Amino acid sequence: MIYREILKKGSIFLKKNKIKNSCLDTELILSKVTNKKREEVLLNTDYNLNGKDIRKFKNYLLRRYKKEPMAYILGYKHFWKSKFLTNKSVLIPRPDTELIIEKTLNYLPLKKSKKILDVGTGSGCIIVSLLKERPKCSATAIDISKNAINVAKINAKLHQLENKINFVNMDIDKYKSCNYDLVVSNPPYINSVDLKRLDDDIKFHEPMLALSGGSDGFRDLKKVIIKSRKLLKVNGKLILEIGHTQKNQCLRILKENGYYINQLSKDLSGNDRCIVSTRLQ
Ligand SMILES: C[S@@+](CC[C@H](N)C(=O)[O-])C[C@H]1O[C@@H](n2cnc3c(N)ncnc32)[C@H](O)[C@@H]1O
Repeated sequence: MIYREILKKGSIFLKKNKIKNSCLDTELILSKVTNKKREEVLLNTDYNLNGKDIRKFKNYLLRRYKKEPMAYILGYKHFWKSKFLTNKSVLIPRPDTELIIEKTLNYLPLKKSKKILDVGTGSGCIIVSLLKERPKCSATAIDISKNAINVAKINAKLHQLENKINFVNMDIDKYKSCNYDLVVSNPPYINSVDLKRLDDDIKFHEPMLALSGGSDGFRDLKKVIIKSRKLLKVNGKLILEIGHTQKNQCLRILKENGYYINQLSKDLSGNDRCIVSTRLQ
């Protein structure tokens, strides 16, 4: 069968299950199967696909039909300036999270060697992006999920940072090492009501451990805020990603726990998304 026919049939098939970007997704799947760039696929739509590759294509297409996110099917996702390996063990890096990189970099002078802790590292997208921008810094990345730590380690290696990041598979509650200049975290912060309303792509495919912040959505945010007081140096920074309705409560918890609020920032959709704070005496 030629590419043109395959692309047409593929996107019609995906549309049947209301997949939004059915044409684009079909093109990306065909480019994965053929190992060609998407542009190359589109410029050569009269090429033929062999039987073995047709079977592969159908297999990937069926996964997408069942709402599996493209980042898991393709096996990667672009974040900040790099490409990250992604699989079902980790949250897919989100464009909104790039705000945390932008804000954190303001507190990491290029020539200083600061000690950073990334809590809930997942794919490692935050810590790898930060260390690529600030090569003099060193870091610890912690995650409760062993499988996530394995993915983050692979990503650190892909970006030649395996010797700069110490990976720890542990609940942040149990972590003891201290004296960090900066703690950064995008913890799970979705409450149990919102969790049920998420798109099927997210709800049925991304790890619950990475999404659910307990019944009120604050379980892990509170843990990180309270624990970071012990892990940070005095005057160290805590930089958090939050859910768009969590600003007031987060600010209150931070203040109650002895933090000064430096900055609150909105994401590209205008939602409160990132808080920079300082551990006081
Ligand atoms: C929202 S994901 C963020 C992943 C990645 N940092 C990102 O921004 O794409 C939260 C991560 O925190 C981890 N996590 C959840 N509870 C934790 C805990 N108590 N201690 C350490 N990590 C935890 C999850 O396994 C998940 O990988």
